[in-house]
Amino acid sequence: MFPAETYIRRREELAQKVESGIILLLGNDVSPINYNTNIYPFRQDSSFLYFSGIREPANFLVMDLDEGKTTLYGYEQSMDDIVWEGERAPLAVQAELAGIPSVQDIEFGAGFLLTESMKERTIHVLPAYQEKHLHFLAKFFAAEIKNLEAVYSHRLIEAVVSQRSVKEVQEVDEIRKAIAVSDLMHREAMAHCKDGIKEQAVVAQMDRICGENGVNMAYAPIFTQRGEILHNNMHNAILKDGNLVLNDSGAESPFHYGSDITRTFPVNGSFSDRQKDIYSIVLKAQQEMIGAVMPGIPFADLHNRASEIIAVGLTELGIMKGDPKEAVSKGAHALFFPHGLGHFLGLDVHDMEGLGEDFVGYSEGQERSEQFGLNHLRLAKELKEGFVLTVEPGIYFIPKLIDGWKSTGAWKDFINFEMLEDYREFGGIRLEDNILVTSIGADNLSASIPNMPEEIEALIGTA
Ligand code: GLY
Ligand code: MN
Ligand code: MN
Repeated sequence: MFPAETYIRRREELAQKVESGIILLLGNDVSPINYNTNIYPFRQDSSFLYFSGIREPANFLVMDLDEGKTTLYGYEQSMDDIVWEGERAPLAVQAELAGIPSVQDIEFGAGFLLTESMKERTIHVLPAYQEKHLHFLAKFFAAEIKNLEAVYSHRLIEAVVSQRSVKEVQEVDEIRKAIAVSDLMHREAMAHCKDGIKEQAVVAQMDRICGENGVNMAYAPIFTQRGEILHNNMHNAILKDGNLVLNDSGAESPFHYGSDITRTFPVNGSFSDRQKDIYSIVLKAQQEMIGAVMPGIPFADLHNRASEIIAVGLTELGIMKGDPKEAVSKGAHALFFPHGLGHFLGLDVHDMEGLGEDFVGYSEGQERSEQFGLNHLRLAKELKEGFVLTVEPGIYFIPKLIDGWKSTGAWKDFINFEMLEDYREFGGIRLEDNILVTSIGADNLSASIPNMPEEIEALIGTA
């Protein structure tokens, strides 16, 4: 964890923003797979981590803003726990490392809070996602789980989002550490790529890199020749000469900061002309939009500009037709680029999205579009120095979607459906890098990971 001063400062800032009431930050608990002691890999909640740095399960933090008192609630280990799991730092030690002045047993904590709620004080909580927390909050607020939305504190969400959005130097350093492992993973994946090898064998090489570096992946890796399936987590196919493979995978840092990197490359180490044509459009959209990152620019504008570059490129190839600007305004390009240009990155790979995508990616008064494609734009707001985000344009050929659009007859002025028949097996190309917004533009934190066709070709199959 970071020094205690970091967490003290973050909590003081949070207290100033929220001003009054009680802030309740729920730490995650372990979750059983099939019986209580066989558990899913444990990962602490990111907001709890941000304000305490504590990675142990089953704690919660109470900040009584009116009394100016912060308390860590948790369980002390029983002798049985110590016999089976080994000894962990006592609560008081965990609290001290986080600069928290007092500790309490968690059972007493729940009782205390219920009493407080009866006194009708304002309790600020963030949106919950662990089953246990949903039940706890439902009981606590005497609400049904499906109605809990109404009890989440917008004031707390907005305060947390504003703090977590702007990264401290030490946080950016953590993201850099995650990216350094991702760099090794991506190079290793390229080196192990060969006709006849199983996709999962290449994923195993990336797992090995994470294991050797003592870290986890930040999310389930996407390593697939069916790159047109945007989040395809299956790795059960055999790599085949002539196919492209899309590798969207990234490591976490030791303190759980993520990285989120995509590269797309030919299995046989040589882009065909057609693959290179599409690749060049995605690369141009990505390079130009990274170059256009600047404080004050709405990210929605960059998304629209990337969409136009994609529409112009596909029109030059004859896949799209008509005026590219008009095509983008009507949403025709979304047949090939149906997702947003990027999202925040930090302790979560889609940073803070559990707090509500619109709270995180849209400013007040900025409406999310309902147009297909644009409706998946997770980040639209004006950029600020210190934001870390992904820039990840893509072009995909999704047979079912193409057939669906063709059958309506509505898109024939913008899409050359006849030509698309030849692209049914193409797959998809995405390029994704992790960008720090600086006072003068973009610092591409993942620039070391090869993305120029010649560099990639030179690495493939070299293991
Ligand atoms: N790895 C998921 C994404 O790029 O958003
Ligand atoms: Mn991403
Ligand atoms: Mn990704």
